[in-house]
Amino acid sequence: MDAELDKDLLERARAAMDKAHAPYSNFPVGALVRGASGTWYAGCNVENAAYPSGNCAETSAIAALVLAGERRIEEVVVMGRGEALVTPCGGCRQRLREFASDEVEIHICGPEGRRKTVTLGDLLPLSFGPEHVKDPA
Ligand code: THU
Repeated sequence: MDAELDKDLLERARAAMDKAHAPYSNFPVGALVRGASGTWYAGCNVENAAYPSGNCAETSAIAALVLAGERRIEEVVVMGRGEALVTPCGGCRQRLREFASDEVEIHICGPEGRRKTVTLGDLLPLSFGPEHVKDPA
């Protein structure tokens, strides 16, 4: 994807972020994941009163992709507010790893647009993935 992230994608990420249920952190996040079919799936963070049990936006987007019958993630968009880069948390890096390869690009965005693009390999080096548990000796 080019330096300027597609406007439609940014709008979809923003729409997902605006749907977040984040009354405890007051930190709404939207995420999009692109499946092998080319379809983008959206998710938002969904918190609850038992704080640690909330779901991240990436987790929700991955669930939508899996529910649609897809099993590969080819590209990711994450959008959050504030000054700092909203990069996927440790748990979500591993969740993405289940369906994405090291080369998959993750576009970190603010409401104004793309701030940085990294790869999953940048975020989760020397990772442990599904191939490690297939046919163990
Ligand atoms: N959060 C996400 O949904 N995705 C990220 O990439 C970072 C953090 C959520 C979790 C929690 O609901 C809120 O942001 C504050 O941590």
